[in-house]
Amino acid sequence: MTDLLDGRIQRLLDRDEELLACPWPLFDDVRSASDPAFYSEAMGAWVITSYQLLRDIVLDPATWSNRSPTATYEFRNPVAEHARAVEEEPEMAEAVARFRSRSRGRVLNTADPPEHVRQRRALNRAFRPARLRALEPEVKSVSDSLVAAFAQRGRADLVREYAVLLPMVMISRMLGVPEDELEMFKGWSDDFAIPIGRARPSRDEVRSYIKSEYEFDQYFSTLVEQRQAEPRNDLISDVANAEVDGEPLTYEERMGALRQFLLAGNETTTTLLGNIGHRLATNHDLRDRLASSRDLVPAFVEEALRHEGPVTGLFRVATCDTDLGGKPVAKGEFAWLAFAAANRDPEACPMPDAFKIDRDPNDHVAFGYGEHYCIGQGLARLEAKVGTNAMLDLPNVTLANEHTDAFMDSYILRGRTQLLVTFDPTHSPTESDNSPPSQELREHRE
Ligand code: HEM
Repeated sequence: MTDLLDGRIQRLLDRDEELLACPWPLFDDVRSASDPAFYSEAMGAWVITSYQLLRDIVLDPATWSNRSPTATYEFRNPVAEHARAVEEEPEMAEAVARFRSRSRGRVLNTADPPEHVRQRRALNRAFRPARLRALEPEVKSVSDSLVAAFAQRGRADLVREYAVLLPMVMISRMLGVPEDELEMFKGWSDDFAIPIGRARPSRDEVRSYIKSEYEFDQYFSTLVEQRQAEPRNDLISDVANAEVDGEPLTYEERMGALRQFLLAGNETTTTLLGNIGHRLATNHDLRDRLASSRDLVPAFVEEALRHEGPVTGLFRVATCDTDLGGKPVAKGEFAWLAFAAANRDPEACPMPDAFKIDRDPNDHVAFGYGEHYCIGQGLARLEAKVGTNAMLDLPNVTLANEHTDAFMDSYILRGRTQLLVTFDPTHSPTESDNSPPSQELREHRE
């Protein structure tokens, strides 16, 4: 029984298409076999599907460290091995050296208290509610310009033509990247995702990852210097000038934070928008109800986050010998916090597989919980609200006959790579002052 379950977890790690599309029965079976945690030999980690246990773990950072959130050490080894090989190329030596020194630094999602507390105090204000409120018209305007490109066509790929672009354009604007450099920016973002949820990236992939990190740091060091000299009221200036009690953040901390904003802000929000579009295009009663009662949109977004969590799970590592509900855990062992599975724990959420927008409360952990609670959740929620309304404005939006579900190649981030829909052709949304993103970026996923 345990072996069979572990075999299925191995298939998830191998990114079996069926399991990436529908991991829920596997998570239910793991939960049933857990007491309260299940040790997976295949993953080399305790798999946590219990909502309560997951919250207990994240609230105890002294015992459960964040130092390697996206992979166990075993899975990090291939990256280190490939890095050694890549270092042999003279033009990559400096980039690999930077990669090594960077890997030792701990920033936000890889940091523990007290560094993490310091960093959050310095960076939280970058996503302060007043800034997000002021940003809403711009999100709406970018959204309108994206929809304008396909509104009259009556059909679109809502992932490629909308969900990828809205978060990308917004975060790049917030970080001060000019529109004509969006494609390069998107390339970095894709490369940063390479080691996430793919057990064994190839040498070429590791090379691209290291190279992109290096280029990103070069590019942003200049921008950061500019904003230190001449601060503006924007996200990049906040990061450039972040300090706690008069102490500035270090160079590594600022670069690490910017990299995480780029990566964490893109793939996850794209996924959420794709899930939202899929729900609206397949559940027409719900779509029509929401279209006529827009005040229900925020509750709908929360249920979309709970029902199909964009982040399937992330790791913690034990800093000392401890236990999980009485099961002994040795120092150095990993736990995989399956946020998306915990959101479907029937102990915490009645009828968890049903999509119900009137859940009250809806205390999901799609953005995590505790000290590492997602710093960008306000931005993600804003983009999801604007995105839902934009998709509801496409009359009779419906899944196209030729649509087939395909999912990202990752066991850590779960999201659709395309969403083909049809709708009644409509006039473009209000003309916007913002030029639509470049054609090259639109073609990026083709
Ligand atoms: C639907 C969209 C999003 C989802 C589902 C999501 C999910 C998460 C989760 C689960 C965590 C907690 C990680 C942990 O406990 O180890 C997290 C942390 C984080 N998120 Fe998000 N996120 C989203 C959007 C964003 C955006 C838009 C940004 C920034 C622009 C962002 C930046 C971050 C950062 C920097 C962290 C690390 C915070 C820390 O460790 O203190 N995320 N996110």
